[in-house]
Amino acid sequence: MPAPVPDLIAATPLHADVLAAVHETAFAYPWSADDFATLLADPSVFGLIAADGGSPCGMVLFRTVLDEAEVLTIGIPPERRRQGLAARLMADAMTVAATRGAEKVFLEVADSNAAAQALYLRLGFAVAGRRKQYYRTPDGPPEDAVVMVRPLP
Ligand SMILES: CC(C)(COP(=O)(O)OP(=O)(O)OC[C@H]1O[C@@H](n2cnc3c(N)ncnc32)[C@H](O)[C@@H]1OP(=O)(O)O)[C@@H](O)C(=O)NCCC(=O)NCCS
Repeated sequence: MPAPVPDLIAATPLHADVLAAVHETAFAYPWSADDFATLLADPSVFGLIAADGGSPCGMVLFRTVLDEAEVLTIGIPPERRRQGLAARLMADAMTVAATRGAEKVFLEVADSNAAAQALYLRLGFAVAGRRKQYYRTPDGPPEDAVVMVRPLP
């Protein structure tokens, strides 16, 4: 039997605990449920959660301001990677951003994050710049961020 296709659900502040739980599986510096509740109370921010039945398996948050969108975070639990979930979440979030009036979407990604950079290049993003020493790291010096941008149709 084929694997079930996860649903994508619009995130609300009531999903803050779920978002924090997924984020914790994907990042060395997880955001708290309060962080997510505060972000999603801001009308410029929206998010999507991927879920198999009641089981969350991915999340993305965007901010849109005027004609620009920004990827705030995206994470997939390790055991659910390379199944197309991030690509689906990004595609749907970019559609939502376009309906909110965004004409391009920006993001920052750690210089060493080859997986995420491969995802973004595959989705049509191009490198637009670099922010020096942008990310703290658990056991080394701060790391540069690569800034990427993609036009929205
Ligand atoms: C980056 C991340 C979100 C990708 O999620 P994912 O669901 O595994 O990505 P997808 O399955 O949708 O991948 C789509 C395409 O992106 C590229 N890609 C994704 N992960 C890759 C990897 N580890 N190595 C090389 N290419 C990769 C591939 O082209 C892939 O297509 P393919 O599987 O047909 O080859 C996930 O690895 C993650 O949560 N990482 C930790 C958090 C993080 O780094 N977030 C981004 C911060 S900027």
